[in-house]
Amino acid sequence: MKNKIEKIYADASADIAKAAATSDLEEIKNKYLSRGGEFNAIKKGLKDLSDEDKRTVGALANEITQKLEAALAAKHDEFYAKELDEKLITEKLDITMPGKFSAEGRIHPITNTINEITAIFESLGFSVVANELSPEVDTEYYNFDALNIPFEHPARDVQDTFYTAAEGGRQVLRSHTSGSQVRAMEAQKPPIKVISPGRVYRNETVNSRKNNFFHQIEGLLVDKDITFGDLKGVLNEFVYAYFGMPKAGAAGVGLREQGEQGSIVSVRPTRFRNSFFPFTEPSAEVDVQCIMCAGAGCRTCSGTGWLEILGAGMVHPNVLKGVDIDPDVYSGFAFGMGVERLAMLKYAIDDIRLFFQNDVRFLKQF
Ligand code: DAH
Repeated sequence: MKNKIEKIYADASADIAKAAATSDLEEIKNKYLSRGGEFNAIKKGLKDLSDEDKRTVGALANEITQKLEAALAAKHDEFYAKELDEKLITEKLDITMPGKFSAEGRIHPITNTINEITAIFESLGFSVVANELSPEVDTEYYNFDALNIPFEHPARDVQDTFYTAAEGGRQVLRSHTSGSQVRAMEAQKPPIKVISPGRVYRNETVNSRKNNFFHQIEGLLVDKDITFGDLKGVLNEFVYAYFGMPKAGAAGVGLREQGEQGSIVSVRPTRFRNSFFPFTEPSAEVDVQCIMCAGAGCRTCSGTGWLEILGAGMVHPNVLKGVDIDPDVYSGFAFGMGVERLAMLKYAIDDIRLFFQNDVRFLKQF
């Protein structure tokens, strides 16, 4: 047994002498001194020896264990110092190097614009209808029929509207948010005062002014004694809140004051032009005085001094009847606006496709 111990000591010492790095020392320690190592195997055999031998062999085993541990420790100190020096030379840390930057997330300008417009209408007492009241894949009933849009209407043509065979029947990718008016009137009784923002789809050839999907915000107010004057008041307030004051010196500056019945007169001139929509009567298209040239005429307004920003009108009696609201008791107005168009005007963006390309150089500017 003594011989075995001496042999292990000799082998281990030779290995230590050959070691070149702290990692070698770890291996040696494992091989000879760990629980499963060679030395332990010997120590386990001690119990079979006589008491006399136990003492002498045991003492030798301990002595040699200590010697090996001391030899390993001495080498370790030596190697460690050397390795540290090498590390310090090779692994230089340049604390003046710029750090790594990760891209910063932003709210998309369309989301921003929707939030801004929504907040304006909320301040005027409107609430936003729940998402489930304005599905993007909808029936022809909500997108057309319930809105008094006749079967032969050109908007129903596949050239304008995307049809889909979702859920077995013929459905559409909604071509406007106006269907949410009908759902809102089905879901609640007057007074109703809601807006409904969302994405709409049209079968368009994509160019700088048209995309085959975009966003609209629909508005609806139904109550007793609602007139076209109420519609004008609300939309003028919206225009003022969204576009702000006209440029100094432009017509209308300084006119924000109490109107005849205590109403506030917008300082940003608007124009309500006679128009036609099947679901409103009378209908109007609303222009705002050009925000680029303040009415003088420029490229943005094609020289007219005006920019069309939305469609509106008094809710058609047929639409009210369709949802069991008596048009002899109640009246209301509705409006719908394109979010991209409003964002493009406000931020002087000349290509609608920029909103959907997700180029960070564009998005970063908002
Ligand atoms: N739905 C119309 C469109 O997509 C916009 C519109 C016009 C909405 C008149 C209305 C409205 O609520 O009263 O062009």
